[in-house]
Parts: sequence; structure tokens; C-alpha cells
Amino acid sequence: MHAAIIMDGNGRWAAARGLPRLAGHRAGADAVRRIVEAAAEFGIGTLTLYAFSSDNWKRPAGEVAGLMQLFGAYLVAEAAKCVEHGISVEIIGRRDRLGGELCAAIDAIEGATARGDGLRLRIAVDYSARDCILRAAALSGAGAEISHEHFSRLLGHAMHCRQAPDVDLLVRTGGERRLSDFLLWESAYAELVFVERMWPDFTREDLEAALREFAGRERRFGGLPEPRNKVLVPANAV
Ligand code: FPP
Repeated sequence: MHAAIIMDGNGRWAAARGLPRLAGHRAGADAVRRIVEAAAEFGIGTLTLYAFSSDNWKRPAGEVAGLMQLFGAYLVAEAAKCVEHGISVEIIGRRDRLGGELCAAIDAIEGATARGDGLRLRIAVDYSARDCILRAAALSGAGAEISHEHFSRLLGHAMHCRQAPDVDLLVRTGGERRLSDFLLWESAYAELVFVERMWPDFTREDLEAALREFAGRERRFGGLPEPRNKVLVPANAV
């Protein structure tokens, strides 16, 4: 199963407490740790987290620099734990606008965790789904006839990662109901779950609730009803 999360609401979480926005992002990083652990426990195969969109460069320089620093620190701090738990980590998106230190941290964690056979954790940084689609289209060669499957592989090349399965469940926190240029191709048949809670407050129980909601949805993929989605969380968990 592929779950993807748009982690929204760090800024509002901080503002509600009279704190600077970066304090919200730091609390957001703690939520990432919590949710990665829970996702591995629940047996989610692939988890993609939206950490920084290509449009987020429009934010004030101080916030951008703080976020980049936070991403690097997270990758350095979590590498050993990811290896220990068999979590493979990939950063998807553009690399050419990221700083040298962050790129080194990305190379290090991707190299160290490449053989992990547990949760596949993908973190989107400087990511734009439209940009990926354009890059994959350019790779395919103008005018060429191309299958969905081959195009999905090209998308992987465009994002600097291996091909990933389509998104099954897409969660957005923070109360907004939009996709914000995230995994547009891969989410063609994703089940969408919108959560009011701000990302720093998102808990293991919230993830579990989203999985239960997913399990109760009937997926048809344009055809006739399929069996209900398998529940990933233990029946006695809530
Ligand atoms: C959106 O909230 C969040 C971001 C743009 C940054 C996401 C970053 C993290 C969750 C922190 C660390 C991540 C990793 C992978 C270590 P917002 O700032 O747009 O919130 P707002 O809508 O309330 O202003």
C-alpha cells in the first residue's frame, strides 16, 4: 500500500501559540518521526511525505533556510535508526537547487538505507508534480506513443528515484482540500482523506483513523465494485 501525506498547518500551529513559524516546522519534524514509526508498524509499504514544494521557494528566505537546515538535520539524525528498522529512504524532486550539505545528507541516507526491505519512505523536497510530468514527457521523446507503465518509470527517472506504485491513500492535514501539485499522475485513483488537525498535532491514532476510513471505501477504478480494502491496523487497536 502506498500512502502519501501533505503535511500542512505548521505555520498556523505556531501562530496559535505565539511562536515563530520555524517552531511549527520543528514540531512538524517531530510529527514526521512519530508517523514514520507508526507507518512502519502498520505495515504500510510506501509512504511519501510532502516536505517542500517547488512553489515553497516563494517563502521568506529565513523560513526556507530554516526548513532546509531542518531537512538536513533530520536526515543525519535518523539515518542509523532507519537502517536498524529496514526503512529505505529516498528524496524525490529536483536536486539542482539544494545546498551541498543537504545533498550530501541525502546521498548518505539513500546509500545507507538502500537495502532496507521494510517501509519505503519517500520525502518530497523541491517537488512539483507538473514539473515531473513535463520532465518525464521530455524523456519519452516528442510524439512517441507510450504506455502508462513506461511513463510511470520515466516519472521515477524525472524524480531521481525508483518507480513507485500508484498512491492508494492521500491524506492532507491542516483543513485545506487541495492537491497543491503533489503526485498528480500517481494519485489518479487515490482515496482522499482531509483532516482538520494541524500537522504537528497529527498522531499515530490519526493515521490509524485515516487507514480505517480508507478500508471502508469502495474502490472501483472506473469498473465494478472490488472487495473492501484490507485493514492494515490491528482490529483491537482503537
Ligand atoms: C506546510 O505547512 C509545511 C511545510 C511547507 C513544511 C513541511 C515540513 C515539515 C513537516 C518539517 C520537517 C520535515 C521533515 C521531512 C523533517 P505551512 O507552513 O504551509 O503551514 P500553514 O499553512 O499553517 O502556514
